[in-house]
Amino acid sequence: MTTEYNPGLDGIVLGPTALSGVDGEAGVLTYRGYPIEELAGSVSYEETVYLLWYGELPTAAELDRFSQQLVANRALPEPLPTLLAALVESNDEPMDAVRTAVSALTASDPHAGDAAGNRENTETAAIRLTAVLPTIIATYVRLRDGNEPVDPRDDLGHAANFLYMLTGEEPDPVVADTLDMALVLHLDHGINASTFSGKVNASTLATVYSSVTGSLSALSGPLHGGANADVMRMLQAVDESEKSPTEWVDDAIARGDRIPGFGHRVYQVKDPRAVVLQERSKALAEAAGETKWYEYSTEIEAYLADEKGIKPNVDFYSSSMYYVMDIPIDIYTPIFAISRMAGWLAHLFEQYEDNRLIRPLGDYVGEHGKTVTPLDER
Ligand code: SDX
Repeated sequence: MTTEYNPGLDGIVLGPTALSGVDGEAGVLTYRGYPIEELAGSVSYEETVYLLWYGELPTAAELDRFSQQLVANRALPEPLPTLLAALVESNDEPMDAVRTAVSALTASDPHAGDAAGNRENTETAAIRLTAVLPTIIATYVRLRDGNEPVDPRDDLGHAANFLYMLTGEEPDPVVADTLDMALVLHLDHGINASTFSGKVNASTLATVYSSVTGSLSALSGPLHGGANADVMRMLQAVDESEKSPTEWVDDAIARGDRIPGFGHRVYQVKDPRAVVLQERSKALAEAAGETKWYEYSTEIEAYLADEKGIKPNVDFYSSSMYYVMDIPIDIYTPIFAISRMAGWLAHLFEQYEDNRLIRPLGDYVGEHGKTVTPLDER
């Protein structure tokens, strides 16, 4: 009997989800029925997280209460300040430091162990994780750069407060709004690899913290969340080379390299998030008088569409946009995590509510019926 393998689980439907709809053919992404174009730039990250978690956009009173819950959980609990300082000493990659720090959060949640079967405890953990992740990342960056950490403020929104903790200065409103929009666009995306990783962990009734630690691990890979930083490093390599962007990319394709920021397992057309991010990247580049990176990007996009029929994904234009916003390249992926943390948690709510252990099969192709030769005769 021949067994059909599907190593990438391409096209396999795990189950129903009411959170985000990803139409790969039409290039449409919706959160709880709202197209992302309706939300990005018009609705804040906090409102969109509320929509994803509770099913409807919040009223002003609901939003105020939800925002206060997040604000109340922004400060780093012990032992994170000491742990982050130690991780800076060991010169961890930011995503590795973030994964370790998030894992350490378990210790300060007395209900961590029973969150899986208890919606209230799961929500408490979800609020904590969503609220404190920006503080973890900003504190790590400040310590790494030899600066004093900046305490979170309670009068700034999620995106603006992160930028404030990074620089110690109140952010330019356009930059803060742009980051808020980017956080909305990266919030959720069906059963992608990092979300799937969290669901597998949660399906064993592991804690919320263990589940999202697995998601952070998956997101860090260059085929997934790690791609956005690779895009900027590619654009810098193009700039430092004697070649045109298309010559540079042509050589990379000839080497068999995957071009970061291009292609997608589900989208057969341009990622709708890339469309929105491209517009904002162009506007910021023109306002800053620094259009080189955006121009390289559009040249590469046109060339790859013609030559390889591959289109930009969410990571392509977010990269040049973050660069013009003066965000350090090695925290592009941690910013993806800041956004997607709430998406992972929404999927954990769904998983715990209707759980079944996720356990596929492997087709054993090894030997059978062997007998042991004693050690002194081997
Ligand atoms: C994210 O799943 C999600 O929803 C993820 C995400 C989310 O919001 O959670 O959207 C976020 O992770 C976006 C993807 C970021 N990763 C990258 O940008 C890395 C570069 N991309 C590729 O490695 C690739 O496109 C993947 C991994 C994203 C998807 O790969 P698939 O579905 O396994 O497709 P494939 O590798 O089988 O490629 C199909 C064809 C191949 O041609 P042939 O070799 O069969 O002739 O398209 C080509 C590939 O060569 N191709 C690429 C390419 N992507 C596909 N060729 C060059 N560069 C690329 N980036």
